[in-house]
Amino acid sequence: MRNRRIGVLISGRGSNLQAIIDRIADGRLDATIAIVISNRADAAGLARAARAGIETLHVDHKGYGSREAFDRALVAELRQRDVALVCLAGFMRLLSAEFVDAFPNRILNIHPSLLPAFPGLDGQAQAWEHGVKVSGATVHIVTPELDAGPIVCQAVVPVDGGDTAAALAARILVEEHRIYPEAIGIMLDGGWRIEGRRFIAGRGVDDA
Ligand code: GAR
Repeated sequence: MRNRRIGVLISGRGSNLQAIIDRIADGRLDATIAIVISNRADAAGLARAARAGIETLHVDHKGYGSREAFDRALVAELRQRDVALVCLAGFMRLLSAEFVDAFPNRILNIHPSLLPAFPGLDGQAQAWEHGVKVSGATVHIVTPELDAGPIVCQAVVPVDGGDTAAALAARILVEEHRIYPEAIGIMLDGGWRIEGRRFIAGRGVDDA
């Protein structure tokens, strides 16, 4: 894909955003972050982006009458920056079908569980409370259904008997930071396809 411009949407801490910034800086991810948008003014991720010299924008969801109106404003900002890929990185808003349709198969999300297990809020605590012996992280393509789109990358994290939910979340986060930049590279490299709900990477063994 010639256009390697991405837009990142956040709501908070922005540690996944930081991992993307770092992988670009160290040359392991060939991409340009065209804009970081937060729906919350106090998101720490906005300061991380500003420190890296990246354009930031606060679009307050409370300033719009409907989810669709808010989403339309986001789509307009992303289109203005000509992004090839939209990356949700701890963006805690559901996207309307209209937003998803504006970037078909061009929106990624990172989720802190091995989907399809434990979608929705607090995937790490859900897994810990369920008593699973492995959990992990998933990067998937966003479809209108929550946390249900084709899976691009996953990483497995074993659960220790002595784990707390917080300790498990911290170990999952390390894997999130590794696989999110990797998935972005795979998407931007192109040549991938989707069969049914299976994502097949462009340079996988299947193509050898
Ligand atoms: C991450 O753990 C991410 O997987 C999760 O929010 C956290 C954001 O952290 N996302 C979801 O739960 C989405 N359903 P960050 O702001 O430090 O990247």
